[in-house]
Amino acid sequence: MSADGSDGTGRPHGFARGLTNYGDRDFSLYLRRSFAKSMGYSDAMMARPVVGIVNTFSGFNNCHRTVPELVAAVGRGVIAAGGLPVEFPTVSLGEAFLSPTSLMFRNLMSMDTEEMVRAQPMDAVVLVGGCDKTVPAQLMGAASADIPAVQLVTGPMLTHRRQGERLGACTDCRRFWADYRAGRLTDREVAEVEGNLATTAGTCAVMGTASTMACIAEALGMMLPGTAAIPAVHADRLRAAEATGAQALQTAALGLTPSRIVTPASVENALRVLLAIGGSTNAIIHLTAVAGRLGIPVSLHRLNELSDNTPVLVDLKPSGSGYMEDFFAAGGLGALLRELRPLLHLDCVTVTGETLAERLDRDGDGYVDPSVIRPFDRPVEPVGGLVALFGSLAPGGAILKRSAADNSLFEKEARAVVFTSLEDLAARIDAPDLDVAADDILVLQNAGPKSPSGMPEAGYLPIPKRLAAAGVKDMVRISDARMSGTAFGTIVLHVTPDAAAGGPLAAVRTGDRIRLSVADRRLDLLVEESEVQRRLAESPPAPAAPTRGYAKLYADHVLQADGGVDFDFLVGQGGRSG
Ligand code: FES
Repeated sequence: MSADGSDGTGRPHGFARGLTNYGDRDFSLYLRRSFAKSMGYSDAMMARPVVGIVNTFSGFNNCHRTVPELVAAVGRGVIAAGGLPVEFPTVSLGEAFLSPTSLMFRNLMSMDTEEMVRAQPMDAVVLVGGCDKTVPAQLMGAASADIPAVQLVTGPMLTHRRQGERLGACTDCRRFWADYRAGRLTDREVAEVEGNLATTAGTCAVMGTASTMACIAEALGMMLPGTAAIPAVHADRLRAAEATGAQALQTAALGLTPSRIVTPASVENALRVLLAIGGSTNAIIHLTAVAGRLGIPVSLHRLNELSDNTPVLVDLKPSGSGYMEDFFAAGGLGALLRELRPLLHLDCVTVTGETLAERLDRDGDGYVDPSVIRPFDRPVEPVGGLVALFGSLAPGGAILKRSAADNSLFEKEARAVVFTSLEDLAARIDAPDLDVAADDILVLQNAGPKSPSGMPEAGYLPIPKRLAAAGVKDMVRISDARMSGTAFGTIVLHVTPDAAAGGPLAAVRTGDRIRLSVADRRLDLLVEESEVQRRLAESPPAPAAPTRGYAKLYADHVLQADGGVDFDFLVGQGGRSG
């Protein structure tokens, strides 16, 4: 770095970027260098370009337990490539440790990421994330800050065995819990299961939201090729971290900002991948939010068009039978992209500067295990994993993960049994006198983005205990909530507008008839429109809105599911120099 902190092109780099404003640029640089020297940096190191490394380690985030060693490995890669690594903390979101739900804080983490990336002096950033909401938050923040960024994930857990049976969080968590509720498992047995579901560091072991978002980040081009599925505890994960650190410098040298990588075409590639992996329903919200930061709309109608001709090729839970470690061993995302090649936009550029075509050409005929990643003409399902539904009950759309559902329930007209809130659900779902039959449709209201609960993963309504004990395994369930990416069942989610925003869902009463038609992409409430409007006008007043802090910001600005549950003032501002 020259005396004025420029890189020879006249543009400041490294610690000379974005100086603190004291009204005297030279003083600002002198002061910053002085304080940086207090951390022991030599002049030679301070002359290097800076790669910021987002450290999301938290004692409240089990999925990020390995972040410290990943950060160290990224740092090694940065130094080896001639840069200066500087780690810094942001918000970290551990899925099972947040109340009322992690999604409520995703936008907070994205704002933290965006502002700290923009405000601090770095030429590029490595985003180290993993758990469900962290990767979308980081991609959203990076898109808005729009400096060169490379995503690195912590990677999935390995499975373990109990009595010879392979277990992994968290599809199996739900299966065993359902067995326990139905009386098929004792207290002692469920306690033993509890200790064997999540036995290594890393994110959930199936194609849940975390792994879906990792695959989407790679499909978008925001991650080093081949790194989405490496298990958290595999040594390759550390080598990937080292390579990611080195890559960040090259990405900066190429001037490849997120707005050049995340484009309408790469977003469509990511949607194809989401459909082909039978990925999490949450990912459609997150991808909408990431793309939305760059002004790229994600249409649920377009999702349906893509879903009609994108087969599910990956045989993993919750849609199929394998785990993420099987996906990695089978060839990982690269093998899937090769199968999907005819459907992809191949001119999309990745953080490496390569196009997708160049990446796939370089892979050549790489290894693939066809029992896990099926050939295009021998799919797990002939159509995509997700489908959007529209109709009088969901004018703005709703989502069904058909690859993890019982298709015998796809065409159905039945009676609604309504729960007006999460509290009402908890109070009555197992009541012995609950008037419910296996053929009914369970409806949950007031669990959407505008509700006080902030759209939790409560859409996987439990089967009422009496029915579960009688052997009922699945029912149609409809709500404005989300569902864990690891869950399964005939579950209609993200009903938009949500009940708290005055959507038709709020007008459903027990005894109403609802018609679901997956074939027609329809979800209809069979009640006269005038009666729906009368009921909505009579709805009880909304609970008092928060008056301060982040809860108020959330309540005042959160968008519906079709807007990615982002804040209205954050959409469409990315890609501009901050
Ligand atoms: Fe973090 Fe599942 S709890 S990925």
